[in-house]
Amino acid sequence: MKNGNGKATAGGLDGVVVAETALSEVDGERGRLVIGGYDVEELAKEATFEDACALLWHHARPSAAEREAVRAAIARGRVAAFERLGSLGDALDAEGGMDALRAGAAHLREASAAEITGAIGVFAAAWHRRRAGLAPVAPDADASHAADVLRMTSGAAPTPAAIRALEAYLVTVSDHGMNASTFAARVVASTGSDLVSAVVAAIGALKGPLHGGAPGPVLDMLDAIGTADRADAWLRGELAAGRRIMGMGHRVYRVRDPRAAVLERAVSALDAPHLALARAVESAAAAILREHKPDRALAANVELATAILLDAVGLHRDLFSPSFAVGRAVGWCAHVSEQWRTGRLIRPGSRYVGWNAS
Ligand code: COA
Repeated sequence: MKNGNGKATAGGLDGVVVAETALSEVDGERGRLVIGGYDVEELAKEATFEDACALLWHHARPSAAEREAVRAAIARGRVAAFERLGSLGDALDAEGGMDALRAGAAHLREASAAEITGAIGVFAAAWHRRRAGLAPVAPDADASHAADVLRMTSGAAPTPAAIRALEAYLVTVSDHGMNASTFAARVVASTGSDLVSAVVAAIGALKGPLHGGAPGPVLDMLDAIGTADRADAWLRGELAAGRRIMGMGHRVYRVRDPRAAVLERAVSALDAPHLALARAVESAAAAILREHKPDRALAANVELATAILLDAVGLHRDLFSPSFAVGRAVGWCAHVSEQWRTGRLIRPGSRYVGWNAS
């Protein structure tokens, strides 16, 4: 299959432009990411989660009053979602956190971007506690979203360093061009459907291991490797078994994912138990993948650093993908508004090949 430039897409729409967006720009050749007009390095260093929401939803860095308005709206979303927990039935009994988020989000009615964003944090924390046999922790309407997600998860007051690191993570993943979950949201929005439906579709897309499902397995991989001296043999064994190395490779980046360095910097203020091993595994994996696929640049994506950071802020690995959804929900909602404004149905074509074609 070919795209408009005659480039093979193998059904993956590689390089096909499906929308114009003012929200973020991914430069895969140079390893650069711009969110809302700011380099991700700069944004993640300074911006709060609420700043990123304001930037993507209202297209400007907020004043103090605007930041507070966004914070309060998301906090109201947390409070409303917490009050609805009892009516979710068995939605939070799901085996996986993303299934719980999808089911929880599907229960929302005519929710705004801030309400959905607030609710996703509540569902993730409540699902995690329910699995541990613990009662959900009520939101604090005066807290920032990052601080409250940590508190609602652990039940304890988080440290300022953990809040800051999680905030940097959430800002960093808040938007990323036409990634698969964002595309899913835009396709749903393009039919004239509602925001909740678009977000439910996006959660389904984010769940997959080729997209947002990778950071939990990354930590499993580090555990299985155990020590740096075992990395080479373990990684070669994975490739020999026909499996992919989690946390490596990207559809767009041909160099190291710029978000990896941003997250490594963000984690430097914390005790990150897996950091040294992750660095050793990354360099072993990069070398082995160079041998394995000499024609394809396969460098670290965001997920290795994500796993290290989320582990260091005290989140269980089962919450890694749901945490990604907490951040990316901001971008999904912004893209839905952008898509609605176009008024154009996304409806690509297909080439009929019949039953007997291979
Ligand atoms: N480990 C081993 N081989 C890999 C690889 C990895 N992590 N990533 C890509 N490859 C190989 C593919 O198997 C393919 O080989 P083939 O041509 O023999 O089939 C080749 O490199 C090209 O990969 P392709 O499938 O075109 O890349 P993609 O753009 O479709 O995939 C990812 C991008 C992210 C899905 C892919 O790199 C991957 O699966 N990574 C691991 C999962 C992960 O970390 N996901 C999080 C993404 S942020």
